[in-house]
Amino acid sequence: MENQNWSNEVSEKIKRKMLKVTERNRSKIPYLTVDGLYEDMAEKDICWWTNGFWGGIMWQLYHATGEKIYYTAAVETEDKLEENLHVYRGMDHDSGFKWLLTAVADYRITGSVRSRDRALIAANSLAGRYNLAGRFIRAWNDDGNGDKAGWAIIDCMMNLPLLYWAHKEIHDPRFLQIAMAHADMAMKTFVRKDGSVNHIVVFDPATGEVMKSLGGQGYGEGSSWTRGQAWALYGFTLSYIHTGKEEYLHTAKKVANYFMSNIPESGLIPVDFCQPADCTWEDGTAAAIAACGLLEIEKLAAESEKPMYHQAAVRLLKALDAEACWEDEKDYIIEKCTAAFHDEKHDFPMMYADYYFIEAIWKLCGQENFMW
Ligand code: GLY
Repeated sequence: MENQNWSNEVSEKIKRKMLKVTERNRSKIPYLTVDGLYEDMAEKDICWWTNGFWGGIMWQLYHATGEKIYYTAAVETEDKLEENLHVYRGMDHDSGFKWLLTAVADYRITGSVRSRDRALIAANSLAGRYNLAGRFIRAWNDDGNGDKAGWAIIDCMMNLPLLYWAHKEIHDPRFLQIAMAHADMAMKTFVRKDGSVNHIVVFDPATGEVMKSLGGQGYGEGSSWTRGQAWALYGFTLSYIHTGKEEYLHTAKKVANYFMSNIPESGLIPVDFCQPADCTWEDGTAAAIAACGLLEIEKLAAESEKPMYHQAAVRLLKALDAEACWEDEKDYIIEKCTAAFHDEKHDFPMMYADYYFIEAIWKLCGQENFMW
């Protein structure tokens, strides 16, 4: 009851604040802030991987409040994002993040044929990145020299639901086959014995042989970049939800157990679980994404296990709430995030932390629009 009161209060704080934030930013696609106010990624880079999350926030708020302003902003975001579908070099494995939270969400709510077309074009592009030899979906693009042709990254687990959706939508098993082949590969190649995961695995793109793993956005090779752990935790859970394959749920729990056993006393998540002890850099995105995944695992777990996942998620969310910015004058909620450990800048707001924080709070309050 105490936790329910707390999550209801946070939900009300979100609704109050986000109305002001949306009024100020309805014509933008936000990502980072300057002096607490959002810049516009539609102007800076329409192909940026986070450009779907603003639409996602808008649909979540529309679902919870019925306010037209959110509906209009969600549709406008998706209309702008269409440009990305025509820019080949801007189409990569992040299609799930971009179009599940915009076009698929729109189609599910309104039945828009145009949104369905956009999402199916994106799903085809994602499926087209599948490497038959290595059984992985290629992550990023390069300058045409092929130096990233063999790169797969753990983040892609979160993009697979676009393929699961396309399979169900047009009854074509190719999408399911590719998504499951990638998930099976990730279980084998990314997940370590202790439940931690690699960020990047490099394959020989011609033979499919595994060459090496890279630390990527984490502290270093063999370390545990926390956002990557969270992508895996939630991503394998989603693959289980869409396919019913028990090994995915088993893997999600293994990653979750590793994550939960590394949550610091403060409940605040570092950028990497292996970063030096005197380094205080945080990543609120990892905490919020993991909370979403833990709350989904809770629904699937045996009665005896449920409290463990629930309590861990609430602990993460309460720590984020205690550090959050609830002033109306600032655009962001979650203050401290990090894009990559070795970047110069740390502990700054990134809009998609707010997306996952809202999604997690909505799960607790029973008002989520499930979009994955
Ligand atoms: N998917 C990119 C990131 O997590 O930073």
